[in-house]
Amino acid sequence: MKKVLYPGTFDPVTNGHIDIIQRALELFDEVVVTVAINPGKSPLFSIDERVLMLKESLKDYKNISVDSFDGLVVDHAHQVGAVGIIRGLRAVSDFEYEFQMALMNRKLAGDLTTVFLMPHEKYTYLNSSIVRNLAGLSSDVSDFVPPVVIEALKNKFGRS
Ligand code: COA
Repeated sequence: MKKVLYPGTFDPVTNGHIDIIQRALELFDEVVVTVAINPGKSPLFSIDERVLMLKESLKDYKNISVDSFDGLVVDHAHQVGAVGIIRGLRAVSDFEYEFQMALMNRKLAGDLTTVFLMPHEKYTYLNSSIVRNLAGLSSDVSDFVPPVVIEALKNKFGRS
């Protein structure tokens, strides 16, 4: 039974994240999607809102759980019994940051392996900031995020 951790800020979850989760499910028995507190970011959505959006978006998938944590990714991976950490690589620009993080996590916990997955190329230009910016300017984001996120963005920007 191989469990893997997929950490991220998920502010909000996008179809690119869902694509990575689907790919991870083909490789591992269980995927734990975990909302992290990244001290470098000021999220639009609270931790609870982000967890709820993930749960709703992933409700039709088996072998997935969603949680949150505050602390080191490697500690949480150990707590849930994961053998590794999933990260998405969209473009070369992701590489340096991800490479540093993977090597630091390996230094902190040599028993955990970081596995990089590439989402479908239609998601290479997508990130959560772009989605927030578009939604804030009343642009249609329905190609980029699950339905629950469209509603949450409308509520957040007062257009329910
Ligand atoms: N599709 C669409 N967007 C994607 C994506 C995909 N497949 N993969 C990544 N992204 C986007 C995210 O939406 C996010 O966009 P944003 O910056 O506009 O919000 C960006 O790429 C990267 O975010 P994310 O994957 O959520 O990572 P992060 O850098 O915010 O946080 C953590 C990564 C959560 C693992 C880490 O920073 C953290 O907080 N760790 C906790 C402390 C720790 O362990 N530190 C030691 C690390 S060495």
